Amino acid sequence: MIYTKIIGTGSYVPKKTITNDDLKEFVETNDEWIFSRTGIKERHIVTDEETVDLAEKAAIIAIEDAKIDPSEIDLLLVATVTPDNYFPGVSQLLQYRLGLREIMAFDVNAACSGFLYVLNIADKMIKSGAYKTALIIGAETLTRLTDWRDRNTCVLFGDAAGAMIITKSDTNNIKDVICGARGDVDDLLICKSVDIKDPIVNAASQQDHIHMKGSEVFKFATRILPKTVNDLLQRNDMVLDDLDSIVAHQANERIIRKAAKDLKFSMDKMFLNISHYGNTSSASVPLAIDRAIKTKFLKKGDIFITVAFGGGLTWGGAIIEF
Ligand SMILES: CC(C)(COP(=O)(O)OP(=O)(O)OC[C@H]1O[C@@H](n2cnc3c(N)ncnc32)[C@H](O)[C@@H]1OP(=O)(O)O)[C@@H](O)C(=O)NCCC(=O)NCCS
Repeated sequence: MIYTKIIGTGSYVPKKTITNDDLKEFVETNDEWIFSRTGIKERHIVTDEETVDLAEKAAIIAIEDAKIDPSEIDLLLVATVTPDNYFPGVSQLLQYRLGLREIMAFDVNAACSGFLYVLNIADKMIKSGAYKTALIIGAETLTRLTDWRDRNTCVLFGDAAGAMIITKSDTNNIKDVICGARGDVDDLLICKSVDIKDPIVNAASQQDHIHMKGSEVFKFATRILPKTVNDLLQRNDMVLDDLDSIVAHQANERIIRKAAKDLKFSMDKMFLNISHYGNTSSASVPLAIDRAIKTKFLKKGDIFITVAFGGGLTWGGAIIEF
C-alpha cells in the first residue's frame, strides 16, 4: 500500500501592506466595519511582482524545508485563478525557474478551494504509484482582479503564495482528501474572463472584476465548512475529538467562528491568521498550514482537518496527520 505525507512547507507574501484605514482612500469604509465583519486588519498587495514570483519564493522555501534536491520532484501543480497568462501556466514557468526536470506541470482553477484540489490530485497520483514527490502550490494576486471602487469586495482580498511538498510514505499521514463543485449558482462569486462578442469587430475588451453576493456566499460557506468536516470524519470512522485542530480557508473570521460553534469545536483549536492577510484565495490554505507549522500551532503527530470553499462554487477538505 502506498501512503503519502507532507515533508515541507513554505509561504511568501509581498512586502506592501494596506491597512483598513488605508482603504479609506479608495472607498467609504472604516476599520471598525471591516474588522467586526471579517476579522481583517491588513492585507499584503503586489506592486511589481506577478503570481509566478510569489509562487517561486514560496516553493523555494518549501523545497529547503523538505531538505530535498529539486531533481527529486516529479509532479508540479499550481492552484490559481490569477495566472499571469492564459498560457503558459504558472506551473510551466516555475518548472524552468526552479530548475526542475521536464516533469508534468499544470495549473488548476478551483477558486479558493484550489489548494485542496491540487492536494487531492497529487495525493491520488502518488498513491497510484506513478509519481513519488509532488510540489503543490496555491498562488494568487487577487488584488489585480479587485474593483478598488467596490467596498463590498475590495476590503476582503490580499495576495500570497503557499507551497507544500508531499511524497510517497510508509505511514498513512494524508489520510483522506475530498472535493466537490456545483455550477448552478456561479453568479454568487464570479469574475468573467475577456468577453468578446464578434472578435473581428470588437478586438479589445476590458478585464472584468470580482463580483460577489456576500450574504449568500456567507450562508454557503457556513453550511459547507461544517458539512465537509463531518463528511470527512464519517468517511474515516473518526469523531471531532480525534482532531487536534482545524485549519480552514481564511475568508472571514465570522465564518470560522460560526462553523466552530455549529460543530461544537473549540475556537482555540481553529487556526486564525486572516487579520494579517485577508482572503488570499487558493494561497490561503497552504499559507495557513505553513504559518500554523512555523508558529508551532501544528505539532508533529497532530491530526487536523484542512477545509476550503470558494467560487464555482467549490469546496474541499483533507484529514492529515502531520
Ligand atoms: C462581505 C460581508 C463581510 C458583508 O457583511 P454583511 O454583514 O453581510 O454586510 P452587508 O452586505 O449586509 O452590508 C451591510 C451594510 O454595510 C455596507 N457595506 C458594505 N461594505 C462595506 C464596507 N467595506 N465598509 C462599510 N460599509 C460597507 C453595505 O453597503 C450595507 O449598507 P446598507 O445596509 O446601507 O445597504 C459578508 O457578507 C461576508 O463575509 N460574506 C462572505 C464573503 C466571502 O467570504 N467571500 C469569499 C468566499 S471564498
